[in-house]
Amino acid sequence: MTIPTQPNAKELVKSQLETGQEQLVDRFGRVVDYVRLSVTDRCDLRCVYCMAEKMTFLPKSQILSLEEITQIAAAFVSLGVKKIRLTGGEPLVRYGIDELVSQIGQLEGIQDFTMTTNGTQLPKYAQALRGAGMNRINISLDTLRADRFKALSRIGEIEKVFAGIKAAQKVGFDKIKLNAVILKGHNDDEILPLVQYAIDGGMDISFIEEMPLGEVDSRSRFDQYCSSDEVREIISKRYSLEPSHLNTGGPSKYWSIVNTNTKVGFISPHSHNFCDTCNRVRVTVEGRLLLCLGQEHSMDLRAIIREHPNDIEILKQALRDSMAIKPKGHDFNLSEQPVLFRHMSVTGG
Ligand code: GTP
Ligand code: 5AD
Ligand code: SF4
Repeated sequence: MTIPTQPNAKELVKSQLETGQEQLVDRFGRVVDYVRLSVTDRCDLRCVYCMAEKMTFLPKSQILSLEEITQIAAAFVSLGVKKIRLTGGEPLVRYGIDELVSQIGQLEGIQDFTMTTNGTQLPKYAQALRGAGMNRINISLDTLRADRFKALSRIGEIEKVFAGIKAAQKVGFDKIKLNAVILKGHNDDEILPLVQYAIDGGMDISFIEEMPLGEVDSRSRFDQYCSSDEVREIISKRYSLEPSHLNTGGPSKYWSIVNTNTKVGFISPHSHNFCDTCNRVRVTVEGRLLLCLGQEHSMDLRAIIREHPNDIEILKQALRDSMAIKPKGHDFNLSEQPVLFRHMSVTGG
């Protein structure tokens, strides 16, 4: 599907007057209509670019309840948010995730309801997700090789992910997208096989530049950096690529592979900064509203909800106010120690 993003100010005022639908707009005129909700910091894998080998997870008292997550989703939707993505950690390891998906799926006004998952639990949940109105799903897959998958995820079995992908294909999502983080010397020789796997399964695939979030281990993120341009160069030697107008409302820039049903996306936080058109915010499972993936500007929604339970107007006002602190953009630098100590699994990708 195509979601129009960033209308100019005149269009914005016109559309608000016509529809009566309030929208969240930041200081730079960017409309925020996409929210990523992290539902757990836990995961059944330990991917090397995402987590440290030994992680301490949050105690239950610190995380939002399923009802609180639903309330936050409802407040955002009433302020014009059209796209909700559930993330983690691994969202499908949260107990009661099917109930949460069903509650959020019933909110009127969502046009795109989706999830980013590592796929291992999809055989159990794919049907419930689809049934609750989830239309698309993104599945992380960095390699097709069992030994490598074990090395990259530290503890995973690739057969579980393949079974998850099959389960997702069976229940008929509008689109399945694979996400691959490419690390030089680890999986850059699998770019073409991954593309072919996506083509064979009628799926899209995005290649992601690694981001320096959290201390993961002693290796240097800089040495293994692989830019989107390098990846595209490799793909275009084998496949004909045409620029695509697909806009999912996410950061991927898409190209169509000629004569296939597959689009290849590139998420390039380093080489092609996309902050100017940023339309999204994230909420961590502790209820911290993060206004940018790469900065610490945030608001404590958990405190607000717990102080004023069931008062959606107070929550909505906080969300409106948060627009004043959304920063202009991120400032990642792979050659330095991470400036941000939050792991991706805490932030929600
Ligand atoms: P689509 O809606 O399918 O286009 O998905 P998406 O790319 O928005 O979401 P997904 O969960 O598949 O995220 C893919 C990668 O993009 C992850 O590594 C995210 O961390 C990254 N990403 C998403 N939004 C941002 C952002 O605002 N800034 C940065 N730097 N990376 C982002
Ligand atoms: N840099 C880039 N992408 C990452 N992901 C997890 N950690 C990182 C990182 N440090 C990806 C996962 C998943 C998505 C939510 O984020 O592979 O596809
Ligand atoms: Fe888990 Fe996803 Fe992080 Fe891998 S990238 S450890 S699957 S949250």
